Amino acid sequence: MAQTRLSLHNETGGSAGCSDKNTVSVLYSLNNSYTSDETKMHPDIYTVISGTNRPGSNTLKVAKQYVHLLEDKGIPTRFVTLEGLDVNHRNDQLIQLEKEVLIPTRKFIFIVPEYNGSFPGVLKALIDNTNIEKVWWGKKALLTGVSTGRAGNLRGMEHLTGVLHYLKMNVHHNKLPISVVNKLLKGEEDIEDSATLKVIGDQLDEFIRF
Ligand SMILES: Cc1cc2nc3c(=O)[nH]c(=O)nc-3n(C[C@H](O)[C@H](O)[C@H](O)COP(=O)(O)O)c2cc1C
Repeated sequence: MAQTRLSLHNETGGSAGCSDKNTVSVLYSLNNSYTSDETKMHPDIYTVISGTNRPGSNTLKVAKQYVHLLEDKGIPTRFVTLEGLDVNHRNDQLIQLEKEVLIPTRKFIFIVPEYNGSFPGVLKALIDNTNIEKVWWGKKALLTGVSTGRAGNLRGMEHLTGVLHYLKMNVHHNKLPISVVNKLLKGEEDIEDSATLKVIGDQLDEFIRF
């Protein structure tokens, strides 16, 4: 199992690219140099995408927790945050991220906040500025919604599902709405509520088998 724990890319100068000093936490790298045994066990590369660039977002916390939970299940996992990433055009940073992380990924986990009844425009901008055939076509996706309201971004996950289907992706049926996330997090970094952890664990187990 991967030993390296979550580390800020711009603190570590990690191995997954984006070495530009101006890059601010574009990419968290848990461990991008997996052993051959790990790769044999899990040939699908998993990447968690934190679907907002809002500083201090709850989505970032939930997304990091998903990475940890996957690693605890023995799945080497890569991590992308949109914070600090210019997704408005195909710049060098985005092309490097695409080449080193997005294209090799087979299974994407989107952690997506609810912004005005949908998913954030910045996530759509990322999608719109990628090479869609290479990055998304034929791959698998898992969706989790995050909101302080009661819906847990149910509607935004449906909107995103429509986009991902257009991109010829296979979206897992278990789309998890995490509502009142502020009450679940209570200002901490991780959700500790046992019922929520159970449904997340079940969702991840299903996606690993998917
Ligand atoms: C631009 C914006 C729009 C939002 N719209 C909604 C909304 O439609 N429904 C809702 O329940 N919460 C809404 N929220 C609150 C988010 O659910 C809340 O901030 C939550 O923590 C997820 O967003 P975050 O990851 O940015 O923190 C909105 C927040 C922002 C910043």
